[in-house]
Amino acid sequence: MADLTTTYLGLKLKNPLVASPSPLSEKVENVRRMEAAGIAAIVMYSLFEEQIIHESLELDHYLNQGTESFAEALTYSPNIGKYSLAPDRYIEALQKTKRAVDIPVLGSLNGVSSGGWIEYARKIQDAGADGLELNLYYLPTDLSLTSRMLEDNYLRLVSDIKTSIKIPLAVKLAPFITSLPNFASRLVEAGADGLVLFNRFYQPDLDLENLDVVPNLVLSNSNDLRLPLRWIAILYGKVKADLALTSGVHVPEDAIKAIMAGATVAMSTSALLKRGTLAIEQILTGMEEWMTSHEYVSLTQMRGSMSQGAVTDPAAFERANYMKVLNSFNPKFI
Ligand SMILES: Cc1cc2nc3c(=O)[nH]c(=O)nc-3n(C[C@H](O)[C@H](O)[C@H](O)COP(=O)(O)O)c2cc1C
Repeated sequence: MADLTTTYLGLKLKNPLVASPSPLSEKVENVRRMEAAGIAAIVMYSLFEEQIIHESLELDHYLNQGTESFAEALTYSPNIGKYSLAPDRYIEALQKTKRAVDIPVLGSLNGVSSGGWIEYARKIQDAGADGLELNLYYLPTDLSLTSRMLEDNYLRLVSDIKTSIKIPLAVKLAPFITSLPNFASRLVEAGADGLVLFNRFYQPDLDLENLDVVPNLVLSNSNDLRLPLRWIAILYGKVKADLALTSGVHVPEDAIKAIMAGATVAMSTSALLKRGTLAIEQILTGMEEWMTSHEYVSLTQMRGSMSQGAVTDPAAFERANYMKVLNSFNPKFI
């Protein structure tokens, strides 16, 4: 039998399949079912900076009744919808989940600014989380904000959080970084033990009838694997951090590609939302079968074997491949 065990952020995992943050972890029963199906670890849905700040603004309001502060503050406070679970309820949910299962459970914080809200990193640790994933999700719209300013801000946050906790810290980031290798290495210097590639951005759509901008969540498919796959292949062996792939892991081959590119773990959400716990069983059984039929005995043997540093044509991951790809396309009607 092929050995699927791996170590992510210092945590020993029975296999490399991790459930990434999603509403599935809102119910302990779902987490139990994922564990029974074989998932190796779960990252809880995120606690958002906005939720924590929102709550402290409400507190301000009660302390300063009669002032305009709350009404004003609310106008800046985004609509946080169904994610508006109070921060303390998040901590309780994490404790409950941790008690209910034996697999590692990681907490998730989603935010961008340094400040009081990051005390929740320590609360997540104290609730028993085996690690913390920090999701850096910011969409710059200000013309005067340079990429350096934004990156420095992210790094300050990572370093502030790292110094406030003892559990391992992974940073989930977006692909829209001008020089990802440089930023990745600076994140590791700032304290990231793992990098989670990539956040999926949910692009708003335009409703032409109501002239409205509407949210539009589209689940991924295996094609979405390509973006994190390329960057993991490029970063593998260059940064001293575990690499986790998130986006587009649906079938066993997707997870195998992730490991061969250099990932320590493959994370999945859309497949689980589409196919339930069956997806976990299918991916794990399929991985084992594939490895056995291709005579791989362990993940260690496969890991990074198709990273940029290992393949015979490293340029395939770079710009050099761009013209080749375009030229390989044969238009039908010319
Ligand atoms: C409904 C839904 C809710 C999600 N909530 C979170 C979240 O709270 N925090 C987070 O970091 N990512 C969240 N994600 C992103 C997923 O964890 C994952 O990174 C992304 O969906 C890409 O993986 P996939 O292709 O396997 O779906 C969410 C995704 C979906 C579809």
